[in-house]
Amino acid sequence: MSFQLSLDLPDPAATDALGARLAEILRIGDVVALEGPLGSGKTALARATIRALTGPAEDVPSPTFTLVQVYQSDVGPLYHFDLYRLEAPDQAVELGVDDAFSDGISLVEWPDRLGGYLPRRHLKITLAAGADKDSRVARISGGVQWKERWR
Ligand SMILES: Nc1ncnc2c1ncn2[C@@H]1O[C@H](COP(=O)(O)OP(=O)(O)O)[C@@H](O)[C@H]1O
Ligand SMILES: [Mg+2]
Repeated sequence: MSFQLSLDLPDPAATDALGARLAEILRIGDVVALEGPLGSGKTALARATIRALTGPAEDVPSPTFTLVQVYQSDVGPLYHFDLYRLEAPDQAVELGVDDAFSDGISLVEWPDRLGGYLPRRHLKITLAAGADKDSRVARISGGVQWKERWR
């Protein structure tokens, strides 16, 4: 990977700020792979990103059972996937990943479930526990294009 960054997120506000930063640079066709164990903050980060793009009052439930939630924003459609319950990568096609990945901005929890359907151009954000209960560490990586876009 040509772009790598590690960010300390000492509290939920820092995670919200990362979401706001993402919202500034994301555009149609982008796929953000959100990795990390249960409770690491994938949904919290997706929620912050979606709210930065739609409005602070937007209700952003976890797509645990629906697998995908779609939002309209000024930039275009936002797709929030939680693929934990996906049984096979082919099911992702039925969920509409092709359209999402080409015509929208996609935030994907449990992206490993996609197998080969995860576009190589994705930005990967891996969340992990930090030093205390409310802190997390985000490791961000992607291809060289992300290096330029992150500045
Ligand atoms: N710095 C932080 N960043 C994100 N979430 C945090 C942080 N500190 C505490 N939390 C809490 O951790 C939990 C993360 O849950 P969630 O976002 O649903 O995780 P995941 O989607 O990875 O399973 C939430 O209850 C959130 O309030
Ligand atoms: Mg989640």
